[in-house]
Amino acid sequence: MPIIEWNDAMSVGVKIIDREHQYLASLVNDLSDALEAGTGHAVLGERLDNIVDFAHFHFNHEETLFSKTAYPQADFHRREHARLSAQIKDIQERYRKNPSDEILDEVFFFVKKLFMDHAVGLDLGYVSYIREAGFK
Ligand SMILES: [Fe+2]
Ligand SMILES: [Fe+2]
Repeated sequence: MPIIEWNDAMSVGVKIIDREHQYLASLVNDLSDALEAGTGHAVLGERLDNIVDFAHFHFNHEETLFSKTAYPQADFHRREHARLSAQIKDIQERYRKNPSDEILDEVFFFVKKLFMDHAVGLDLGYVSYIREAGFK
């Protein structure tokens, strides 16, 4: 059962960013299903590098948009992205060395938090500025 169901309140109003956030939600749901089914390590073995690349790509994408808007929290938001990027890279490295159940859980909590606290938290603060700048 999916733990995140997408709804309009989660939208940042820019289609391509919403699609990336929807991908993140599907990642949370897939990992949750895999943990429940006991296939977490197999799924993570296939997708961990992709999760790290996705985070990097997505953060860059948002930051490119910030630079074209008057979003006043852009610097803080960039620092938050840098902190999260460093965190997932650290988890990736530790998982490579030691693919334990604990680190598997850590990845799951990371992506869940990235969606719950960041994508539908901090990210929603740029919506009005991005709209004002004409992006949709
Ligand atoms: Fe985002
Ligand atoms: Fe963000």
